[in-house]
Amino acid sequence: MADVVIVGGGVVGSAVAYYLTKAGARVTLVERDGLAAGASGAAAGMLTPPPEAAASGAFRDLCRAAADVYPTLVEALRDETGIDVQYLGSGLLLVAETEARARALQMVVRWSAQTGGRLAASGGGLSLEWVEDGPLRRLEPGIAQGVWGAAYSPDARHVNPGLVTQALAQAAAARGATLRLGTAVTGFVRRDSRVAGVRTSEGDRIAADRVVLAAGPWAGRLARGLGADVPTRPMRGQMLAYQYTGVRHILWGEDGYLVPKAGGFLFVGATVEDVGFRPRTTRRGLAGLRRMAAKTVPALRYQEEVSAWAGLRPGTPDGLPIIGLLPGWDHVYVAGGHFRNGILLGPLTGKLIAQLVTGGRADLPLEPFRVERFAT
Ligand code: GLY
Repeated sequence: MADVVIVGGGVVGSAVAYYLTKAGARVTLVERDGLAAGASGAAAGMLTPPPEAAASGAFRDLCRAAADVYPTLVEALRDETGIDVQYLGSGLLLVAETEARARALQMVVRWSAQTGGRLAASGGGLSLEWVEDGPLRRLEPGIAQGVWGAAYSPDARHVNPGLVTQALAQAAAARGATLRLGTAVTGFVRRDSRVAGVRTSEGDRIAADRVVLAAGPWAGRLARGLGADVPTRPMRGQMLAYQYTGVRHILWGEDGYLVPKAGGFLFVGATVEDVGFRPRTTRRGLAGLRRMAAKTVPALRYQEEVSAWAGLRPGTPDGLPIIGLLPGWDHVYVAGGHFRNGILLGPLTGKLIAQLVTGGRADLPLEPFRVERFAT
């Protein structure tokens, strides 16, 4: 089977390595920093598609299929690596702070009911119901007064995205994948009309029959080296964490979310900023998160945060991922642009790319996610 070079050691690249090695491919994963050093390590790890994914369409189907991958994958990763990825079911409340948002969320609940009562499928999926103020307060006693209710999903889950990435890469390595961490891809080796491998910052070349670009917001730069336009853009997200166990559910409001994590941490996120390749926190960004957190759960006004960080999501012009061949090449693939949904969609993306690489066909229709959709 083919030698495949994967560029990028986030959840997507690691998932591609996982599923390709499972199919028997020889794989080298090249990552310029460490595993999950970018958006994958910064994410809150919610397996929650955005509310608009309740509407029918290819993106909803992708989210549903992605949620369905998790239950089996979590078990497999535990068996293969001993890593528990903290697949926790805390449930989700999409909180309506205003009447307008209440109406919008009630529509999401109706859509979800029309499509089988599920925003995504079982496991990591969402069955949604509307809860008024009284029941909401019983579910989440610490929530602020004056909210209009919430769309409630008892079965929403989240994971530790850094551990998912580590486990995927470790399992791939156990099946023979080479992990080249701390190594950047600096260019491509061309032979005739093919890409025959990559050049690295270590001064060597890695031969490949096929190449997968899974480099998050850096995919666009790499693709330019092959004459293709992949419009990925860094979209900064700032986060902070409290040591606080008074929040039971994921609380997602208009201005951000609170996620109760393993170890008694509460993650608060996130800004969405188009500020280029600057993965750092700012005073203003963190102040906004603190304000939002205290407005949602007033007791947080008196909490000191224990850490804060930022990551660069891979954005695309329409906010949807790019999964498929790189235009102009029949053996170079792009897997990225997952914007706010990388942890949910990463493992499924790995599976789909592995299917394309090994058999040329994927289980799901990938037409809507081809990069060609951006061509004018
Ligand atoms: N997935 C949540 C975020 O992008 O902030």
